[in-house]
Amino acid sequence: MISEQISEQTEKKLKEIIAQYPDPKSTVIAALYLVQEEKGYLSNEAMLWVAEKLDLPAVRVKEVATFYSMFRQQAVGKYHIQLCRTLSCMVTGSKALLEKIKTRLKLRPHEVSADGMWSYEEVECLGSCGSGPAMLINDTLFEHLTPEKLNNIINRIEAEQPDLSYSTLKETLGQGLK
Ligand code: FES
Repeated sequence: MISEQISEQTEKKLKEIIAQYPDPKSTVIAALYLVQEEKGYLSNEAMLWVAEKLDLPAVRVKEVATFYSMFRQQAVGKYHIQLCRTLSCMVTGSKALLEKIKTRLKLRPHEVSADGMWSYEEVECLGSCGSGPAMLINDTLFEHLTPEKLNNIINRIEAEQPDLSYSTLKETLGQGLK
């Protein structure tokens, strides 16, 4: 039995996407993205929901969800920082940024703050190697960072709580904090 409650809005959007493809099974990535957008991450129940809607074996859906790093299997904060730790960003200062994140947020990687606002992790290259150090907060890229800039970004997010996520449901790109 599938206990995950997915909104009618997400289900309607998924039906619209499915209608554009000859085979509903081709929409598994889009379906997972939609559900993650609503829930913040992909629980087993959410993956079962997708499998049922697309008439796919649950194991196939899980394979896709665990293969792509953009899919999460655990909850994150409202603002999830992904800090690049690959070479170009490392030599331009990502370690100092990591220390700033740790001291500022007082969290371990993947831990969610008590108020649900923050979480972070280190990730591999974000494709912005010439503009490092770089990080994503949700879907918004920040480049040429310093600990001071990072601190100011966190201050502004806490004060303004901007939308930093791309939204398939709203069909708008979240307003970046630049
Ligand atoms: S090495 Fe950091 S974005 Fe590529």
